[in-house]
Amino acid sequence: MIDKLRKYNQQHLLNYAKDLSEEEYKNLIEEIEAIDFDLVTKLYKDTKNSAELLNADKGEITPLPCVDKASISKEEYNNYYNLGISLMKQGKYAALTMAGGQGTRLGYSGPKGSYFLGEPINKSLFQIQCQRLAARNKELGCIIPWYIMTSRENDLQTKQFFRDNDYFGYDKNSIMFFKQGFLPMLLEDGRIVMTDKKTIKQGSDGHGGVFKAAIDSGAVADMKRRGVEWIFVGGIDNILVRLDDPLFVGYLAANNFRLGGKSLIKRDPYEKAGVFCKRGGRPCVIEYTEISDEMAQATDEQGKYLYGDLHILCNMFNIGVFDDMANCGLPYHVAHKKTDYIDEHGNLIKPDAPNAYKYEAFMFDAFEYYENMGILRVKREEEFAPIKNKEGQDSPQSATELYIACEINK
Ligand code: UTP
Repeated sequence: MIDKLRKYNQQHLLNYAKDLSEEEYKNLIEEIEAIDFDLVTKLYKDTKNSAELLNADKGEITPLPCVDKASISKEEYNNYYNLGISLMKQGKYAALTMAGGQGTRLGYSGPKGSYFLGEPINKSLFQIQCQRLAARNKELGCIIPWYIMTSRENDLQTKQFFRDNDYFGYDKNSIMFFKQGFLPMLLEDGRIVMTDKKTIKQGSDGHGGVFKAAIDSGAVADMKRRGVEWIFVGGIDNILVRLDDPLFVGYLAANNFRLGGKSLIKRDPYEKAGVFCKRGGRPCVIEYTEISDEMAQATDEQGKYLYGDLHILCNMFNIGVFDDMANCGLPYHVAHKKTDYIDEHGNLIKPDAPNAYKYEAFMFDAFEYYENMGILRVKREEEFAPIKNKEGQDSPQSATELYIACEINK
């Protein structure tokens, strides 16, 4: 192992092996054995120009047509809706909640889904989603299977939270938890971060890890056993998320799309979210940081933004997309983060500026593998109340106000 570590310039991982107990040593060795060092080396090599590599040679960026929910005729609306209801009743529909994020900005130490919103909501984020599904089940006389993606940091706590709350009354055989993948964080010189003598700093591999994790964990096999064909995939932190929307699935199925997304019109040219567009003729999401000023402001003859449909992490996939994505693998994006580490003398260093790289796959990178996808534009006030920050915009308080104002929750 020492030879192997030397080859990859990671021999510091065993620097303190002699100070560890037998148990700690065994755990550390297991962690090291699970690391894909070739991948880590490649990620580090590409770190500096990862944005260029991700966007290179992908062709011209053009608008992606979106269908506004409000513009659908009554007849079509009913057809889509009824088709969606029928898919749900036949057991062909599942919901998947991605709850493996770290919730750094919120600054809450437990799993984000266990965050409790006080008066007047008085529910945790998990409970809000659970009750939305339960209401649909009651209406249709079926049970929508619910898959919850956790991370290695919050998996045990998440499961305990559900046990403590008696699964909020949901059929516990219809809830399945699965863990997402992880990758070591790297210091700026390429060495893997150790937070103490026995611990390697591993981070969740991003929401794009959902496809591989769902396959590897057996979640997709479980869906297939149940006859599921369509999976809604959303985050835990949007308390207006419609994870049970018959119209969305009906719209995609009726129009032969294999995947889809919901969008919102951006508030102003520079709203901080990715926008749906086409690149080289294929659907994709471009981050607000990667779009030029000219494109951000561009409008059509009616004054509508050409690149104005925001991606809000509300997506639907045909089950075959999970198989496709697990096989092709998504690229990784780099985030420069601040993290404590031990130096070569074993001293704990607490930096006051970003000092390490974290690598994450983004779910929307899957879109470019397909020729087309269905985008349904919905109303912000009906479907989007994110909780990202402790205070101010996108905080528990702002989301609570939106939740209370929304007709559906009245
Ligand atoms: P965000 O990108 O907002 O990240 O996740 P976050 O971890 O919740 O918050 P910050 O950035 O650390 O403050 C959007 C959704 O994707 C999930 C999150 O749980 C959230 O529902 N997610 C994100 C994962 O499940 N895994 C990840 O690795 C990243």
